[in-house]
Amino acid sequence: MAIQKVGVVGCGLMGAGIAQVSAAAGFTTVAREVAPELVEKGLKGIEKNLARLVEKGTITAAASGEIRGRLTGTTVIDDLNDCDLIIEAIIEQLPAKRELFATLDKICPPGTIFASNTSSLTITEIAAATKRPQRFVGLHFFSPVPVMKLVEVVRTISTEPAVYEEMLAFGAKLGKTTVRAHDSTGFIVNRLLVPYLLDAIRALEEGVGSIEDIDSSMKLGCGHPMGPLTLLDFVGLDTTYYIANIMFEEFRERRFAAPPLLKRMVLSGWLGRKTGKGFYDYADAQNPTAMKF
Ligand code: 3HC
Repeated sequence: MAIQKVGVVGCGLMGAGIAQVSAAAGFTTVAREVAPELVEKGLKGIEKNLARLVEKGTITAAASGEIRGRLTGTTVIDDLNDCDLIIEAIIEQLPAKRELFATLDKICPPGTIFASNTSSLTITEIAAATKRPQRFVGLHFFSPVPVMKLVEVVRTISTEPAVYEEMLAFGAKLGKTTVRAHDSTGFIVNRLLVPYLLDAIRALEEGVGSIEDIDSSMKLGCGHPMGPLTLLDFVGLDTTYYIANIMFEEFRERRFAAPPLLKRMVLSGWLGRKTGKGFYDYADAQNPTAMKF
């Protein structure tokens, strides 16, 4: 079955990015959020990104109009009932994802493929909330979605080989490089990235270096585009905290354990860029300053 219409559930940072690349690749795309203001916020962000691409001459104004024309927003879950593929990018919590897919399973035809953008939950456990685990995969994108080249395509022991191949082809149509991953918690990237990020916090806790020096070390010493503490603020400290807890629960290894400082920052509402405060203060977004603890 050829994918023509794509549903994206969740229109936050990841969902909006996924909807943008889907529409840009020529798919009719419907993005669903729970409230009209969240739909509007997601679509406005996409429009801003498209305007920037036109300004830079990456795409024409006509192409931008066509992409926007392929994209609709909705709060009504039933509007996804004629999608060939639905990609979920909602909050990283298992009960919410299972409930969503149980609902989608009832309203979508049996042929619709379901995908979760989860970064750490077990795909098998989400798929088990439906009667179509054979048509269920993980499609794990990276932030910012329009820029990052990778999609991890995750198969469970139940995923039908033809569905898996179709999802690899879909990732390629989005202009992404795909990698194949098994349904192991954190897949490939987060299995390696999360312990590194958590170790950067532990290094800070232990006084190995300052916030700026830890970041500069990895940027200039290893050629990373962002230092680990800047990247943590970018991804969201709450997101990293959820992921670390899920991975620790699964593997019971210290390298996945959330450092006390991370927990305290999340409890204080310091979630990184999105709340204006994390390891840096973003009062002046162009010139963030390191926090003092
Ligand atoms: N949306 C769309 N485009 C964006 C963007 C956004 N949010 N942010 C930046 N861009 C574009 C810019 O327009 C620019 O495009 P151009 O080259 O065509 O002009 C390009 O990206 C580079 O941006 P800038 O020049 O402003 O800034 P940088 O060179 O510093 O790049 C960055 C920004 C791409 C974010 C870079 O710093 C980077 O790659 N950082 C690391 C990001 C990363 O590691 N992401 C993965 C996080 S882990 C994850 O998502 C998994 C999850 O499960 C936790």
